[in-house]
Amino acid sequence: MTKKVVERVQGLNGTIKVPGDKSISHRAVMFGAIANGKTTIEGFLPGDDCLSTISCFQKLGVHIEQNEDEVTVYGNGWEGLKEASEILDVGNSGTTTRLMLGILATRPFHSVVIGDESIAKRPMARVTDPLKQMGAKIDGRGEGNFTPLSVRGGGTNGILYNSPVASAQVKSAILLAGLQSNGLTSVTEPYKSRDHTERMLTAFGVELEEKNTTVSVRGPQMLKAQHVTVPGDISSAAFFLVAGAIVENSTITLTNVGINDTRTGIIDVLNNMGARLQLKNEKVVNEEKIADLTISTSKLSGIEISGEMIPRLIDEIPVIAVLATQANGTTIIKDAEELKVKETNRIDTVVNQLKKLGANVEATEDGMIIQGPTKLTGGEVASFGDHRIGMAMAIAGCIANEEIVIHGVDAIDVSYPNFFEHLNELI
Ligand code: S3P
Repeated sequence: MTKKVVERVQGLNGTIKVPGDKSISHRAVMFGAIANGKTTIEGFLPGDDCLSTISCFQKLGVHIEQNEDEVTVYGNGWEGLKEASEILDVGNSGTTTRLMLGILATRPFHSVVIGDESIAKRPMARVTDPLKQMGAKIDGRGEGNFTPLSVRGGGTNGILYNSPVASAQVKSAILLAGLQSNGLTSVTEPYKSRDHTERMLTAFGVELEEKNTTVSVRGPQMLKAQHVTVPGDISSAAFFLVAGAIVENSTITLTNVGINDTRTGIIDVLNNMGARLQLKNEKVVNEEKIADLTISTSKLSGIEISGEMIPRLIDEIPVIAVLATQANGTTIIKDAEELKVKETNRIDTVVNQLKKLGANVEATEDGMIIQGPTKLTGGEVASFGDHRIGMAMAIAGCIANEEIVIHGVDAIDVSYPNFFEHLNELI
């Protein structure tokens, strides 16, 4: 485990091109792997999670070449996937696990899926239950709720599924299975989750229908190879958006950031708190909106974050909690019980680590309550193997009165391998 000392900074200034979007990078590789022809990806995120996706599909017989942020996937259609002689190791990646399960559910062969300690604790029944209802044979600990999981796919039928959670991973897994199942597959969720799957499947030639929070596909369908340009990840940009707002004497520009409406909860939160944030050069690339974002040191007020907003910023809550420690008044985050089943229980990890730095924060059943502003103190904190906790702590370190020591910063490689280089460039 690696540790890092972060000291208070006097200002953060400059321009950063954040790495490629993690959700879109995973999907580009997977959809390329099941498409017919050569898919080329530029701006791919070479973080550990997306590299796990590449390695799993290579084990399934797909030829994939990767050179930093450029990837070529030589797809041979659904039939191009072959029974792997090795275990498929997803590492720390929930997206790899759940979306790949959706694909494997329709493949007429046996697969074994395993991941790291964190993955072994994350609930998979949310996808394995509906996939079993479609006809896939899936087993594992807790009747198929936890890895290691074994899958024997094939012979699946469509499903009309009412998902109890707003989860793009659940929605995507079922839709992917639906593409190779008989008849109609339809997923309805309580709130709309990120829609990268819908957008990219359409670009790959799939016909799907969207109505309110329901998405439907009819099987069987084939995918046609594409060129994918991956926008910068707003979830990675979020760390520097918060840093720019709370560190004195700062102005930070983040270029080429994906601003898909299902992901921009962080922009709404910053605006609602009163941050000095500007969007420029808006355009659409590959069905996805992008823009350059500029943020400057801001006077902030506490707000309530709840309901349909939650899926639009679920991954940003660790750093939003840091932001809220510097806002005037109370910030209430609720309806966010999904935080408990992320890479760590993020209600516990965020609250416990921020308390060590002197923040006034209390956990609730479905979120947290933060009183601000507080001056953060130094201390020793840990990522607990969770990339976003590690980065949120580093941003807290930029405003703490004394140095902070962060244990387990290697976890940050999952989504932002050059995070500290970018931070240093801004100092
Ligand atoms: C993701 C969806 C979200 C998000 C995760 C990536 C995706 O999870 O937290 O980091 O790529 O589909 P859920 O859909 O399970 O909420």
